Amino acid sequence: MRSISITRPDDWHIHLRDGEYLAATVKDVSRYFGRAIVMPNLTPPITSVQDAKNYMVRINALIEGVSDFKPLMTLYLTDQTRPQVIRDAKRSGFIQAMKFYPAGATTNSDAGVKSIENIFHLLEIMEKENLVLAIHGEVTDHSIDIFDREKAFIDRHLVRICKTFPNLRVVFEHISTNDAATFVAESTSNIGATITAHHLLFNRNHLLSENLKPAYYCLPVLKRDTHQQGLIKAATSGDAHFFLGTDSAPHPRFAKESACGCAAGAYTSHAAIELYTEIFDRADRLDHLEAFASHNGPDFYGLPRNTDRITLVDKSWEVPPYYTFGKDSLVPIRAGESVFWTVVG
Ligand code: DOR
Ligand code: ZN
Repeated sequence: MRSISITRPDDWHIHLRDGEYLAATVKDVSRYFGRAIVMPNLTPPITSVQDAKNYMVRINALIEGVSDFKPLMTLYLTDQTRPQVIRDAKRSGFIQAMKFYPAGATTNSDAGVKSIENIFHLLEIMEKENLVLAIHGEVTDHSIDIFDREKAFIDRHLVRICKTFPNLRVVFEHISTNDAATFVAESTSNIGATITAHHLLFNRNHLLSENLKPAYYCLPVLKRDTHQQGLIKAATSGDAHFFLGTDSAPHPRFAKESACGCAAGAYTSHAAIELYTEIFDRADRLDHLEAFASHNGPDFYGLPRNTDRITLVDKSWEVPPYYTFGKDSLVPIRAGESVFWTVVG
């Protein structure tokens, strides 16, 4: 049996939800991740430092005495966000990033930013305050094909944001195309990108051919195979621009398998580092797993790396067909199938 030991990893992009769902998501993310960047797209969204603090307290209440896991909080940018909120966020010490959702781009983004120009004055303050901007990088223009929305975002907005604010630290979240991987790789060290396990494991054939599979529907939507291959290359390259962010985004079955539409989001938190290990193993780049999972993220955010380690062995286990999720159930990635690595300590 093969084994690999790496510095304790972190998840730089996750959705923990709230209320009846929080215990389940916190339990999964805190199994071995040291920290996680917690997304603010609740209903209503987390828009103030006080909201974020209350949310953090609810998360911490579930892990006290169980694990040393630390949630890293974010705030949701809107057209109404006041400049003082940026300064307060920076001063809080527990808010690590401001999240920019173009209004209507994805789940719970209706309160997001209607036009990037509306927040340019805020980006200027973030650049000065050295507070990270986390971006959902897709245009919402319905005349743009859904498979092209990430590239259009780069061309129309991201190039300009990076030029106008060269010292602003930007995380291009859950990149899904070669265009994004190339843009980030060729950028300064102020631009980083998270890559999900599902964008590395799957392409649009997995989602669309044979039966349409709701568990694989996420945003940005899975692209063609050549993009998947490009993302694998970027993630496993050892390049410090790229780091682990699962974008694990649970939805109860009634919201995924519904007659009036399927909610976007793939759940991987039950097997996150195990799935990434499988991807790096298949690419014959296990030697770069630690950089991607445990070094590049904290280095980008200017936080210390974790000091302890975890170990995985190549022993497979079965994912159940579903997990209980509130009063409903949740179908995770690999439901009813094997995961090939196991965390042993
Ligand atoms: O697939 C997604 N699900 N993409 C997002 O950007 C949001 C997320 C969610 O909150 O469900
Ligand atoms: Zn997300």
